[in-house]
Amino acid sequence: MNKVMLVFGTRPEAIKMCPLVNELKSRTDEFETVVTVTGQHREMLDQVLRVFNVIPDYDLAIMKQGQTLFDVTSEVLQNLKTVLEKEGPDVVLVHGDTTTSFAAALACFYLQIPVGHVEAGLRTHDIYSPWPEEFNRQAVDIVSEYYFAPTEASKKNLLEEGKDKTKIWVTGNSGIDALRTTVRDGYSHPELEWASDSRLILITAHRRENLGEPMHRMFRAIRCVMEEHPDTKAIYPIHMNPKVRRAAHEELDGFSRLHIIDPLEVLDFHNFLAASYLILTDSGGIQEEAPSLGKPVLVMRDTTERPEGVSAGTLKLVGTEEDVIYHEFSRLLSDPCEYDAMSHSSNPYGDGYASKRIADVLARH
Ligand code: UD1
Ligand code: UDP
Repeated sequence: MNKVMLVFGTRPEAIKMCPLVNELKSRTDEFETVVTVTGQHREMLDQVLRVFNVIPDYDLAIMKQGQTLFDVTSEVLQNLKTVLEKEGPDVVLVHGDTTTSFAAALACFYLQIPVGHVEAGLRTHDIYSPWPEEFNRQAVDIVSEYYFAPTEASKKNLLEEGKDKTKIWVTGNSGIDALRTTVRDGYSHPELEWASDSRLILITAHRRENLGEPMHRMFRAIRCVMEEHPDTKAIYPIHMNPKVRRAAHEELDGFSRLHIIDPLEVLDFHNFLAASYLILTDSGGIQEEAPSLGKPVLVMRDTTERPEGVSAGTLKLVGTEEDVIYHEFSRLLSDPCEYDAMSHSSNPYGDGYASKRIADVLARH
């Protein structure tokens, strides 16, 4: 039997790994499944574990306020060594591009344990954008033995780097597996009731390279446009990073049509996405979820590793300059043709059965 360890530590990794944990755990005759969380996030990770009923076997509990990339990398590397040596897994699965994933893959490399990369092959080809994620994902792919690419485009990126084609499987994105189970008709929430008389704008922002002045510019542009459109209300479930919170409160406090609320549980957030008119974000995962719900997204970043959603027409890169965000956001609110062009639903990231495909590959190898 295969002993499979999954290692993850932040909210987006958990949302995309928990469906896979549950798939592997349901196949007890094929896999022994061990879940190790690094706790790079705390509250935002625990929210997801609760929703998917996943109880970790190991929790490295590394998060501290104001943690640096040095802190996260060294804590994960050191603490995971003990767990890996004790468990001796046949394969370790890591996800995407976080520092948890990079450090976990490095720990496996040092111990010569095979790594499977879930969501392999995403690229911007700009090592500083997003930072440090582009480095993390490339580094994980250097040491991986199994590549679970979400799309043909991500497979192509891996092939162009000379990765062995017999080790790449196109599976779809397991984030869509989660989405398949969360969005429901008849969902209600007091915040959605509050916004029901208006066009709902959903906002998230957290990227490290946007902290500081870019984030201030983003918030100023959003507020300015909303002040000119009285038929809009915004909900902003805010990341727990104190730097994000400070910038948001400085720019957005006192504007009653914009509610800043705590992070939502994933089931709630997906239903908020489904109820929204449009989304402003610098998030990665939301760029994958919104196209299947047919929701236009203005991506407040200079690059994206998710070109499929841009090609599908649902995503538009608007950068972080105040005047560009102001212009694009205003246009989407004022121009029905532009809005219609961006609100077709499409499914470039899979059919919601990525976890099963990944488990099938692991069972065969
Ligand atoms: C991390 C990932 C990023 C991912 C993001 C998802 C890295 C380098 N960054 O960035 O790729 O897009 O998660 O959200 O791996 N905090 C809490 N409680 C929580 C979570 C965070 O208090 O549950 C606060 C802490 O003060 C922490 C800070 O947020 O120090 C930053 O967290 P960190 O994981 O270092 O960076 P993120 O920006 O969340
Ligand atoms: N999300 C959530 N609650 C929120 C905001 C986002 O559950 O309040 C989900 C969202 O649906 C997506 C994921 O968190 O699946 C994205 O996480 P984040 O933006 O923190 O990280 P990224 O995807 O940018 O790495």
